[in-house]
Amino acid sequence: MNYVVNIVTSDNQLFSIPFKRFEYPNLMELIVENNFEDIGECLGRGLCGTCHVVLTEGALNDFMEPIEKETIKTLNNTQPNSRLACQIMLDEKINNRTFKIITDNKINP
Ligand code: FES
Repeated sequence: MNYVVNIVTSDNQLFSIPFKRFEYPNLMELIVENNFEDIGECLGRGLCGTCHVVLTEGALNDFMEPIEKETIKTLNNTQPNSRLACQIMLDEKINNRTFKIITDNKINP
């Protein structure tokens, strides 16, 4: 079954990206593999915050690891729905959801 996730890039362009369940290890890899943004400096370990995204509506019914919560606390421009894309799995929970990429935390934007 194919799913779709909507991504708003840092320059406010909206893209719908089709994906298969667990096609990539996480949402950060999907974004990078589709060349939308150069994010993910810690390669998905939940430490750098460069993959900061904000869910534009609602909340994900998803468990957040302590490392993700700790890293988000250190970031700029967080919102209640801030997440790290590298900690979000590609499954039905993100189908038809929209995430905005926040690149304020990149070392070399
Ligand atoms: S890639 Fe570093 S926190 Fe997600």
